[in-house]
Amino acid sequence: MSSGTGKNNDALLAAARAAREYAVADFSKFRVGAALRAKSGKIYSGCNIENASYGLTICAERVAIFKALSEGESARNFEAIAVVTDAEKLTPPCGACRQIIWEFCGDVEVILGNLKGKMEVHRMSALFPMPFDISNL
Ligand code: THU
Repeated sequence: MSSGTGKNNDALLAAARAAREYAVADFSKFRVGAALRAKSGKIYSGCNIENASYGLTICAERVAIFKALSEGESARNFEAIAVVTDAEKLTPPCGACRQIIWEFCGDVEVILGNLKGKMEVHRMSALFPMPFDISNL
């Protein structure tokens, strides 16, 4: 884990924070924003979108990743993903998102932030140390 300062990460956190404003979190009230940076520098953002059938909820990270892929980005052509909430304890990606981040983004930086400006940078390989992936098939 590192402190992760730098203007690229600041821009990514700002994009995640902006996306969080669009969160559809009527049930949990837990609003999440995510932003993914492609190697080109292009940023794709997402927010969590909940559903009355709770299990159909999709996390902010997966929205951002699927947006990027659906707009023509290639898998594993990403550098970093940021996740922002208003929680004091920073919010790491859930287990399902870790699987998806690993599959489509690989060993990227995962930048966690909150609205007070607290932030940490982790690597996916540290957050998801023994992945199931295509190498197991
Ligand atoms: N959530 C995310 O969007 N990303 C995470 O990393 C953690 C959880 C969402 C899902 C649900 O809408 C709400 O947060 C509470 O679990």
